[in-house]
Amino acid sequence: MGFREQIDTTRLPQHIAIIMDGNGRWAKEKGKLRVFGHHNGVLSVRDIVEGAGEIGIKYLTLYTFSSENWNRPKYEVTAIMELLISTINKEIKKLMENNVRLNTIGEIDMLPQKCSTELKNAINKTAGNTGLVLTLALSYSSRREILQAVQTIAKKAENGELNSADITEAVFSDHLHTANIPDPELLIRTSGEYRISNFLLWQIAYAELYFTDKLWPDFRREDLFEAILDYQKRERRFGMTSEQIN
Ligand code: IPE
Ligand code: IPE
Ligand code: MG
Repeated sequence: MGFREQIDTTRLPQHIAIIMDGNGRWAKEKGKLRVFGHHNGVLSVRDIVEGAGEIGIKYLTLYTFSSENWNRPKYEVTAIMELLISTINKEIKKLMENNVRLNTIGEIDMLPQKCSTELKNAINKTAGNTGLVLTLALSYSSRREILQAVQTIAKKAENGELNSADITEAVFSDHLHTANIPDPELLIRTSGEYRISNFLLWQIAYAELYFTDKLWPDFRREDLFEAILDYQKRERRFGMTSEQIN
């Protein structure tokens, strides 16, 4: 039996977040340039988006480009941005067919104008879709996101719109870029790295972490299903005892 058949579709994580890592090493293994890895990484994105939609995942968030990634060599950054533009353009038809709603988090205005325009178009076009919500984290830094939320909240307090006692977890969450998205129950990172790299720090407080050695361009829907199955075997206790849960 394949992994997919073993998944209990009544106990799916609502939201899966993925740190898509290992494109560069994948290319290097093949004696190619890093950019070749990014191009092949797009094929994995397509397959994972389809696979997630197919089994009924509601939210999928992909770490696509971090604020720290701006520090890479200029030609790599340029190539990634160009790839982003051409991919959004090419994939929009598929997104519509699959009823996917596109969304972004991060400092989108930092992206080249052509890129942010293309993104805004795609977001508008898919706004009425009711299936999977696909969120791309672009120029994203979780610490910056948290700082921005703090600044906005502080301003509201200064203006008398908000009392400090009213700043609950829910209020704080509403000031993050992920305001309309539930916290991920499952966080996957590929390529054998065991770190979070400034991704969704607040939101993953109780996420189940899943690490795989597979490099991102090798990660396909069967691997996603394997991760979901692993998630379903875990006992999520939220500070309680096993006896309380069962
Ligand atoms: C992930 O793959 C893609 C981005 C961060 C844009 P990498 O480019 O980080 O690949 P490695 O980790 O160097 O192999
Ligand atoms: C994290 O990968 C960012 C993305 C996947 C977009 P990196 O490859 O940039 O992370 P580090 O630098 O190895 O932590
Ligand atoms: Mg990397």
